[in-house]
Amino acid sequence: MFENLKPQPADKILALMQMYREDPRDQKIDLGVGVYKNAEGVTPVMRAVKAAEKRILEEQESKAYTGLAGDPAYADAMIGLILGDAVPRGNIAAVATPGGTGACRQAFELIRMANPSARVFLSNPTWPNHPSILRYLGIETAEYRYFDSETRGVDFDGMIEDLKTANAGDVVLLHGCCHNPTGANLNMVQWQEVVNLINERGLVAMIDIAYQGFGDGLEEDAQATRLVASSVKRCLIAASCSKNFGVYRERTGLLMAISDDPAQTALNQSSLAFLNRQNYSFPPDHGARVVTTILNDEALRADWAAELEEVRLSMLGLRQQLADELQRLSGSDRFGFIAQHRGMFSRLGAAPELVEKLRADHGIYMVGDSRLNIAGLNATTVPILAQAIIDVGV
Ligand code: LMR
Repeated sequence: MFENLKPQPADKILALMQMYREDPRDQKIDLGVGVYKNAEGVTPVMRAVKAAEKRILEEQESKAYTGLAGDPAYADAMIGLILGDAVPRGNIAAVATPGGTGACRQAFELIRMANPSARVFLSNPTWPNHPSILRYLGIETAEYRYFDSETRGVDFDGMIEDLKTANAGDVVLLHGCCHNPTGANLNMVQWQEVVNLINERGLVAMIDIAYQGFGDGLEEDAQATRLVASSVKRCLIAASCSKNFGVYRERTGLLMAISDDPAQTALNQSSLAFLNRQNYSFPPDHGARVVTTILNDEALRADWAAELEEVRLSMLGLRQQLADELQRLSGSDRFGFIAQHRGMFSRLGAAPELVEKLRADHGIYMVGDSRLNIAGLNATTVPILAQAIIDVGV
């Protein structure tokens, strides 16, 4: 049996992580995987997370199973964080999942179960694991234009033109904020236009929101998701706590299925619970419990939001510093987009050979499509990166 196995393609992002670890050079900079690092290069446990963990350690009396959907208090807290009161609770089915990837996976499985002929439209580019999981599940995909390689902004006309080729029942996967890998985002007028198109063509919206709080602020980053969720007939939302709570390895995510008909919710809920049972039974609880503890405690929540805001502002500062440094070195404004982009990533728009040269000659690791993790930089490494970018001729 095992001899029939074939080597699978390595995930580009994870392969890069491995290469970085194995690089013996002292002077190396990891701008690959989307993990926040502070000025000392450490991915810290957030203060509120530590405090919540202490509380759980002291107070938790049982580790018996929760429910297939996870603890309902977690879903309620996360729904509040992401949607506020944009959608009546009775219209939302929700389950805890192992991270944002688990939420995406369960969403795709639900799509396949509900409509096996649905195609999923993906932005070009998107997070590479989206097409990878869809391909694995045998779900047909299509692409819509997204990144304008000239302006390094969104090719909105191209996006709309391509989405007009979607048929009723097809799914449009959108990044709720902080587009991964480009850092280029729609404005609210454009979001409204996308919503109109989804409604006109009878499409299903799916939102992947993994960076709430990393772009323009916790509330601001949820605005587009709230608009979509409250304006379309049906929508899926895959959310991650990995980045904004810094609980990467705890695998803490949530999947919501929202319908404008509350009579549908019970069936959506039981279908999501069924899928959890088939794939891993009960979802992980520790990260979810930490997040719930924080969101439901005024002081912990305020402290978490304050620390997240520090992270967000430090990333904005690094963006500005890099854009300024590149302007100084190149004598042009052509890198100004780095300060305009939002979230953890920016796509530099460099050819793969130059990305490879940055790695080989300068020990600077970024994903082959020239996505760089801004949160992997600090005030000392920004000038080194800027000089290297100029040296290799980006
Ligand atoms: C990333 O895009 O780097 C992160 O979402 C981590 C991952 O799992 O790929």
